[in-house]
Formats: sequence, C-alpha cells, structure tokens
Amino acid sequence: MHLDGTSGHGRGGVGAGILDSRLTDAGLAPGPDGSLAMRGIPLAGIAEQVGTPAFVYDAATIRDRYGRIDRALGDVPHRICYAVKANSNVAVLRLLAGMGAGADIVSGGEMLRAIYAGFSPESIVFSGVGKTDDELLAAIMAGVGHINIESLSELRRLAVLTDVHDRDVTVGIRVNPDVTADTHPYISTGKGGLKFGVPRDQFTQALDIIDQVPRLRLGAIAMHIGSQLLDSAPYALGIGRLLDLLTIARRAGHTPDVLDIGGGLGIQYHEEAPLEPSAWLAPLAPLLRESGCTVQVAPGRYLVGSAGVMLTRVVYCKHAGGRDVAIVDAGMNDLIRPALYKAYHEVVPVQAGGAAKIRLDVVGPVCETGDFIALDREMSPVGEGDLLAVLGAGAYGFAMSSNYNTRPRAVEVLVEEGRWGVIRPRERLTDLFRDEIAEPFAGEVS
Ligand code: LLP
Repeated sequence: MHLDGTSGHGRGGVGAGILDSRLTDAGLAPGPDGSLAMRGIPLAGIAEQVGTPAFVYDAATIRDRYGRIDRALGDVPHRICYAVKANSNVAVLRLLAGMGAGADIVSGGEMLRAIYAGFSPESIVFSGVGKTDDELLAAIMAGVGHINIESLSELRRLAVLTDVHDRDVTVGIRVNPDVTADTHPYISTGKGGLKFGVPRDQFTQALDIIDQVPRLRLGAIAMHIGSQLLDSAPYALGIGRLLDLLTIARRAGHTPDVLDIGGGLGIQYHEEAPLEPSAWLAPLAPLLRESGCTVQVAPGRYLVGSAGVMLTRVVYCKHAGGRDVAIVDAGMNDLIRPALYKAYHEVVPVQAGGAAKIRLDVVGPVCETGDFIALDREMSPVGEGDLLAVLGAGAYGFAMSSNYNTRPRAVEVLVEEGRWGVIRPRERLTDLFRDEIAEPFAGEVS
C-alpha cells in the first residue's frame, strides 16, 4: 500500500536545492528511469543483488574530498591522517592509504586493520584516552609514528614500557585546549574537565617525564576539539593555545615537529552550511605557518560521511495515533546516530516519488522507541517494498553498528570507476552465536 494512496514522479518541492547538493555530494543523480543512481549505477540494482540494509560508498567522493583538504593545506607542510573510526572497512582504508593518507587510530584493532590495509606504521598516529598496556606495547613494537598520550598516567606507563622493551618512541601530547566547540555535547571533546587530553596546567609535568626517559622523544603537540564542526573560530583559539605550549616545549629543549589539530570538519546532513576545507583553513594558515611544524589533520567524517548511503526497504506502512509510519528493515543497530544524538539523516526514495509530500515517521524494527531513522519528516509518500536511501551514512554508520536484537550487520558495497563490489558481506545469522557456549559446565564433576 502507498501511505497516501498516490503515486507520481519528480523530486521537486520544498528544500529541493539543498537536497540536490547532498545528492551530488554522494555522487547520486537520477538515472534515465528517474531512479537514483550512484555514478550511473542504479541503487535499486545493487539492492536487488545484495539485499537490504546495505551501505554503499562512492570512492570518487572520498578521493575528491581528500584532494580538497590536500589542496587547502597547499604549501603548508602537512599530513592528512584519516580517522579510521569513521569507517574502518579495509577497502576504504586501502583507498585512502593509496592516496598517501596516514591513519589516526584509537585501538589495537584499528592499528591491525590500518597496517593490514596498507598504511605504513610510521604514518599512523595512536590517539585514545584508555590505551591498555597490550595496545601500547603493540604500537611500540609496530613502530607507529606517534603515540598521542592523553594523561600523565599513560605517559608514565609508556615510559616504563619503552624502558623495559628498549625501544625508542615518539610521543605526542594531546592537550585539552579548553575550547568549547558548537556541536552535540556527546561529540564535543576540547572543553576543560572532559576526559580527553592532558590539561594545559599539566603540560610541563609531561615534559619533565619525557626529559627523564631517554627513549622518549616529544614529536607532536595535538588537539581534537570535537566533531561535526562548522566554524574555524574554535580551531583558531585552540591552535593559539597549542602555539603557547609549543614555545614552552622548545624553551625546555624539546623539538616537536608536528602540530596535530585533529579532525572535526563537518558535513551537510540537513541545512547546515559546512565549510569548504579552503575556507576552514584560510584563517588558520598564518597560525599554522607560525608553528614551523608539519601540520597534521585527522578528518574522518569529512572524507567519508557524504560518500555513503544506507539502503533500506519499507517492510510495513501503518497509521498510528494520527501519524503515518513506515517501518523499514534498517534499525538503530545499523545506524545508531538518530537514536544516540537525534542526528538528522535525509531519507530519499530511490524510485522517484510524487511531488506531493506527507509527514512521515521512518522507524526501524528494533524493540526500542528510540529506534528511528527520521521522525515527522516531510517527504514523498512511500509504500511497502519501496527502497529508501538514507544519506550521510558513510561515517559512523556501519562503524557503529551492532548485533542488537541478533540482527546481522549489513553488507557494505564500494562503487568505483563504473563498477561496484561487495567489500563486506552481510553477516550470517549462525555466525552471530557460533562462539557462544550453551553448557559451560558440561563435563565438570560436582
Ligand atoms: N581525531 C580524534 C582523536 C577523534 O577522537 C576523532 C573523532 C577524529 C579525529 C575524527 O573526527 P571527525 O573528523 O570524524 O569529526 N560517533 C560520532 C562522532 C564521534 C567522533 C569521535 N572522535 C558521530 O556519529 O557523530
């Protein structure tokens, strides 16, 4: 059934211009039959072959975005370290490693992935507030470029490990610059008192610890102030503070040569006006040059977010409490951002919808009221069996997915140069509980 009983064609209507730019961002355009295609490949055809839910990524968009940051940094000596957490599929990692990117990682698992996908260990930066001894040791042995420590305790632990294992380690001090970034509180990371980074007033203590351990060298001063940021001002403030600390470090005889300003560059999910990398960096360039350092950035979302869509099919339509509801086959276990941050993701019918709009809840099958993709959304009417594309799903989509409700994680697909291929098959149901032990005490003598 169709929710309003109509059918029709065209993608016009309110906000069409904004929507068009987001479609273009993802390499999407209507094909000859009016249905959405990614770089000319009909999404409906992909869904038919691999099923839904499915994540589909456009390699050309990722390449384009990498190039934009690279060009914006221009003649400032720089390195772009992709934040692996945003989308850690090895095909995506391989693509970025092939373009010359480094990797920003936050776990031993991400380190293994990154090396497996082709990043050289020296191009890897290890961030994260809770690295275990095992993870630190693995990073030391692999010879990662920098270990960005986030507390004095971690630095002391690292000092012991380098000593015991007799290895040189280049340390970055991730500082908490005490900068408030205007974003969702869960993804704002640069404010004083949060768990991230070494507080500025402990910076000289960190230098003292490094001084006492000949195997440690201070290579970088770092920050990461938040995610989905739409403004350069907090970066300028933060970088100003890092420059003060750089001066302190140099006066104390250290020779850091990397200034790591983190990631955070936002993308357009709805009506935001994200900065082009050139506009983001223009006001920062003089400060960055003043540092005399290689500038390192660690973008995740900007590189992959707009490049991905999640395809999902409408299972049922119903009317409830005066609302129109479409129940789709992707849930919060597939894309948790709406449930976790009330994040907005555009939902577009893959087959051209009618010009008429209705207000619709698009919800998942998971047994939680918070399991929704979009609430009270003005969009073209949909019917059972219709295919929908959820935009902006390339970053923190599959990467944050889970098996909640014993739901297999979705298939991932890469579109590149007129072809598409599966880069991770859908999980099989039996794999989800294969390693569980139904009778742990079987065979024990009581
Ligand atoms: N560097 C560090 C140390 C980070 O913690 C992060 C993200 C990044 C770089 C990359 O930030 P990006 O360029 O992607 O904004 N799950 C949330 C986002 C969490 C970001 C955590 N840290 C979301 O879905 O919005």
